[in-house]
Amino acid sequence: MKTIIVEPNFNKVEADVLVIGVPEHPENIVGWDGFVNSFSTRLPEWLKAGDIKTTFNKIVPMPAMEERDYKRVFFIGLGAQKALTEDRLRQAFAAIGKELANVKATSVAIWTAPFTNDKLTCEDVAFAAAEGIGLGTYKFAGYRTDSNARDVAIEALTILSSSDEDELKAACEVGKVYADAVNEARNLVNMPPNILTATKMADYARELAEKYDFDIEVLGKKEMEELGMGAILAVNQGSVEEPKLIVLKYAATEQWEDVIGLVGKGVTYDTGGYSLKPREGMVGMKGDMGGAAAVLGAMAIIGELRPQKNVIAVIGSTDNMVSGDAFKPDDVITSLSGKTIEVLNTDAEGRLVLADAVTYAKQAGADYLIDVATLTGGVIVALGNDKTGALTNDEAFFEEFMQASIETGEFVWRLPLTESDKKRIRKSDVADLNNSPGRDGHMIFGGGFVGEFAGTTPWIHLDIAGTSDAAAAHDLGPKGATGVMVRTLATLVERMADTELED
Ligand code: BES
Ligand code: ZN
Ligand code: ZN
Repeated sequence: MKTIIVEPNFNKVEADVLVIGVPEHPENIVGWDGFVNSFSTRLPEWLKAGDIKTTFNKIVPMPAMEERDYKRVFFIGLGAQKALTEDRLRQAFAAIGKELANVKATSVAIWTAPFTNDKLTCEDVAFAAAEGIGLGTYKFAGYRTDSNARDVAIEALTILSSSDEDELKAACEVGKVYADAVNEARNLVNMPPNILTATKMADYARELAEKYDFDIEVLGKKEMEELGMGAILAVNQGSVEEPKLIVLKYAATEQWEDVIGLVGKGVTYDTGGYSLKPREGMVGMKGDMGGAAAVLGAMAIIGELRPQKNVIAVIGSTDNMVSGDAFKPDDVITSLSGKTIEVLNTDAEGRLVLADAVTYAKQAGADYLIDVATLTGGVIVALGNDKTGALTNDEAFFEEFMQASIETGEFVWRLPLTESDKKRIRKSDVADLNNSPGRDGHMIFGGGFVGEFAGTTPWIHLDIAGTSDAAAAHDLGPKGATGVMVRTLATLVERMADTELED
């Protein structure tokens, strides 16, 4: 989407596709009659005959084409005007995006006027259009030599509106920034593990740092050994690939204070280690760096929009392999925090990686912590594949986070973390903690383990094992990586730049 145009007169627009949103009872909408008169007086007739549907997300091509500058016209039903939210609009535009990809359109114009209601401004619509279309048109390029990947992209988006041109354009730009960042994260997750190694992920982070002027530090094995990062090093022990701790700093203010720490699990492949995964359970574990991708995606948005909030991103990256050198159940390791850990299960590796990454973030000045990880199969058992599981130790911080997730439409559900859960994490004959207290409710043990390292710093844990990868096409994109939490993390940082949390 290189060009964004705002144009009041649709007769002046040249686009491959014109999209017209039609809510229920469009005749009640200010501007509809004028639109009908200037576009096609047959619209009421088509609506009456059911050739144009007002049902939410129902897309139909224009029943009869007239001589126009665009090749196609799509009508999309928007359902009840009152029920329209930004999230529903995003879904509708993503559905349009998929259709645009199917017909290989490179330009699209959208008539927005009737979409608005008292909760939605024209800017909201423009934002949702750019974001939804960006998300909906995504396709991973892949490596097929007879590539059937979509090779055309939407170059130009026109918003048909007489509202303030600059404001609408700005809203579209932000929507595009959000969609592009999600799609970048999706690309990372979709990449195969022989290509996306920890070193490659660090290279990618360096590119981000260069582009957005972030401070960057990448620790390799030697630096980790010097610092005593025994937890991430243990996970890496069986690998021929170097581990990387990737640290990006976005300094919005002179003083490095009031810092949000975004911490991502970047396990580029999870075989389970000696607690080996069954063969069906292993396929797909290239996506075990979804948390890292979410953090990198959020950082891209932060780099573009530059909110007034200091942010540190810390990603622990390694694969979890088997070899004569690999760590094993019964090992006792010493983490960066000094806490010792009895390894009961080498497949519970994410929490080990996060333990050191969270400690590093704290030591580097994080005042708030959010860790994001494809951490447990348990979250899928508990919540299914469409809800991210959360834990927290801070009500106000979590409340603010939930507001961000409502804005983005990314569903998050909190689970409890009780004293008796903590007791089980701390139960070991030989060490301070154990990394696998049991399978009953084990999403809580996974996240709770990370919480031991957050300590009293306000902290939120997000388990995206169910939501990071989609088994089938969904509202906002195709099968495969979803880029979940990119938008919510960035939205939270934007919100926290504008508000003070209450104690
Ligand atoms: N990477 C997995 C979790 C996972 C499962 C991600 C399914 C995506 C889809 C994690 O490292 C893991 O293996 N967790 C174990 C923990 C158990 C050994 C306590 C699990 O959930 O089974
Ligand atoms: Zn694992
Ligand atoms: Zn894992």
